[in-house]
Amino acid sequence: MRSQACDAAAGKEQPMARVLVTGGAGFLGSHLCETLVAQGHEVLCVDNFFTGRRQNVAHLTSNPAFELMRHDVTYPLHVEVDRIYNFACPASPIHYQFDPVQTTKTSVHGAINMLGLAKRLKARILQASTSEVYGDPEEHPQTESYWGRVNTIGPRACYDEGKRCAETLFFDYHRQHGLEIKVARIFNTYGPRMHPNDGRVVSNFIVQALQGSDITIYGDGSQTRSFCYVDDLIDGVVRLMDSPGELTGPLNLGNPDEYSMLQLAESVLRLVGGKSKLVHMPLPTDDPRQRRPDIRLAQTHLNWQPRIGLEEGLTRTIEYFRSRLTES
Ligand SMILES: NC(=O)c1ccc[n+]([C@@H]2O[C@H](COP(=O)([O-])OP(=O)(O)OC[C@H]3O[C@@H](n4cnc5c(N)ncnc54)[C@H](O)[C@@H]3O)[C@@H](O)[C@H]2O)c1
Repeated sequence: MRSQACDAAAGKEQPMARVLVTGGAGFLGSHLCETLVAQGHEVLCVDNFFTGRRQNVAHLTSNPAFELMRHDVTYPLHVEVDRIYNFACPASPIHYQFDPVQTTKTSVHGAINMLGLAKRLKARILQASTSEVYGDPEEHPQTESYWGRVNTIGPRACYDEGKRCAETLFFDYHRQHGLEIKVARIFNTYGPRMHPNDGRVVSNFIVQALQGSDITIYGDGSQTRSFCYVDDLIDGVVRLMDSPGELTGPLNLGNPDEYSMLQLAESVLRLVGGKSKLVHMPLPTDDPRQRRPDIRLAQTHLNWQPRIGLEEGLTRTIEYFRSRLTES
């Protein structure tokens, strides 16, 4: 079991490990499983298939190093692993607001269950946290030391506060039980295997453009976001997991290049072609005006930074959606 696997991300030899990925059949989780299997680890992918799907990991199921298990993280899990990546949680507003109580349970009970498992196994555990912990920020770009501005009773709170509480639990388990923890604050990430109907801006614009429908822009389109391509993000997440024990985070992972929604819509239209028109709709409640990571900590401690520009990432993502939309 202690054979060596090449850590492609950090360029170092890492001992092979048994790795649990919760939410492993989702968008990010499936790319993470793929990377870990390619590095020679044994991967146990756990998912309740709320937003994830088997097809996302279908190409891995014939590999003996990969195992897929249906399980809801709000219930305890008894398995034997060396490392845990906790990615289970719906991530788009449409999905996390569908059953907000379940969303909070997934973040909070899910974290307690996975932290309990990590404590029993003395396993290192990484939390997929989010830039949403910063809420509608008064600081721009957001550094990890910024405490955030979240509306505790708004429709986004089930996700934002759930993720904030999960961070609290991670640090309490670390202080109280000496658990080795890693907290990644992930900013908007896009790429193949995003859900086509999750209402996130990149998938929305691409699907609308491919279908020749109007492209819906909320508000005047001047609000900005930064977009990280999935391969870059997974590289950062794996580097964080493999980093020295004393590096707990929270660490921002995202692409600091900032684009307005209008700029994004125009890029998608240009790359897809077609005749879609841009139409404006009212801004949703508590929609942040600006979102951009300060990634200096990740650059310094992980020697990481995003490499794939928006045009290249969009081109790859458009190809995915083009073939997915023609699936019968
Ligand atoms: N994609 C992003 O831009 C982004 C940004 C910040 C944080 N994140 C975080 O990364 C993680 C993955 O996000 P994603 O974009 O891949 O979303 P996703 O919806 O594609 O993946 C989430 C996965 O978790 C599963 N899941 C949900 N509830 C579960 C439960 N109770 N038990 C077991 N499985 C459950 C879903 O079925 C799905 O496969 C989430 O925790 C999310 O909060 C993502």
